[in-house]
Amino acid sequence: MRVQVAIIGSGPAGLLLGQLLHRAGIDAVILERQSREHVLGRVRAGVLEQVTVDLLDRAGVGERMHREGLIHDGIDIHFGGARHRIDFRRLTGKGVTVYGQTEITRDLMNARAAAGLATVYEAADVAIHDFDTDHPRVTYRKDGVSETIACDVIAGCDGYHGVCRASVPAAAVSTAERIYPFGWLGVLSDTPPVSPELIYNRHERGFALCSMRSRTRSRYYVQCSLDDSAERWSDEMFWDELRRRLDAKAAETLVTGPSIEKSIAQLRSFVAEPMRFGRLFLAGDAAHIVPPTGAKGLNLAASDVSVLAEALIAFFAGDAHGVDTYSARCLRRVWRAVRFSWWMTGLLHRFPDADAFAHKVQTAELDYLVGSEAAMTALAENYVGLAL
Ligand code: FAD
Ligand code: PHB
Repeated sequence: MRVQVAIIGSGPAGLLLGQLLHRAGIDAVILERQSREHVLGRVRAGVLEQVTVDLLDRAGVGERMHREGLIHDGIDIHFGGARHRIDFRRLTGKGVTVYGQTEITRDLMNARAAAGLATVYEAADVAIHDFDTDHPRVTYRKDGVSETIACDVIAGCDGYHGVCRASVPAAAVSTAERIYPFGWLGVLSDTPPVSPELIYNRHERGFALCSMRSRTRSRYYVQCSLDDSAERWSDEMFWDELRRRLDAKAAETLVTGPSIEKSIAQLRSFVAEPMRFGRLFLAGDAAHIVPPTGAKGLNLAASDVSVLAEALIAFFAGDAHGVDTYSARCLRRVWRAVRFSWWMTGLLHRFPDADAFAHKVQTAELDYLVGSEAAMTALAENYVGLAL
């Protein structure tokens, strides 16, 4: 088999790249280690910046998002018993769209199937070769049979644990990392959200987030310890812990019900540089991870892909400028999002080693934030993606 672009990974980055390339007449195949159902079953991000919404429109997959997605004009931050609204619309003129990553993935998979494009699910032992030459190859096994794909370019969209970044010689890549000393326990439930907008709660017992997927489906998170396991948490334990971390009004109005998904995510900041190695291009979580506090992971993956699609379209038309500047263009935005996500994480979580001084400074910073137009504008610009 021969294609122009071999895409590794069918998460949002790989699927969106495939769709943008297809619309430009560039042929690509996607190789995915897991099954389609497994990919669709992973509950992850939920907040889209306007540039991500625009990109999904350009990719021709925005119809259901506009029908079912919820436009949010701000968020609430709760600390010390009181809730404070950060009004994105007033401060920046922009809002965000709440629409689940699983739904984006489903829309992109459906568009791909409708166009008859090739995706190989349950591709085992995917390996990439010769990407430092003009003739890279990808090998894998499907149903026990070994296969080879010859291509011009490999797009590594295979997430943090993927094979692409791991195949780059250690001397060619530099990495920077922070691992945070806590995780997020997330629950999805078919219950109405506690409030029309998201509530970020800073509490002595730890951070909590009230989010949603629709007017009838809620997504909640509580900060948990690193060695915790989702199995240890009954639904009742989860709701009790969440309620304790909310303001009085939210605690009173919280509607609980059976969880339909429960999982723990680690919090990490990670950047690998550069994002291009010869004919191999990394995009999304394959190149960088941010803690979910700033709602940036999926949006960063989308913006990488936007830059990469444009660069590859020019490349196949004979212009290499875009591929040569891909890494630098993406990394500037990546580092700004890394900074914002790290800052939001520090602002809102309980750190196990924090003493009374650290706690007081954190309170003072929150107090300053909600009293300062300039500070609220800075948060809003970063959250909606304007400052990135
Ligand atoms: P992924 O979605 O990770 O997709 C990579 C794909 O590559 C996967 O389907 C994987 O199976 C496949 N793959 C891996 N290795 C191979 C291989 N060797 N061969 C073939 N295929 C392979 N962001 C937010 O903004 N908010 C959140 O609440 C949030 N929660 C998260 C919770 C978890 C547990 C995780 C892991 C991430 C979360 N994120 C969140 C981040 C966000 O979901 C990611 O930034 C986004 O999924 C990135 O998309 P991606 O396509 O780059 O990577
Ligand atoms: C989510 O809905 O899953 C979500 C929303 C905002 C975040 C993180 C996760 O900051």
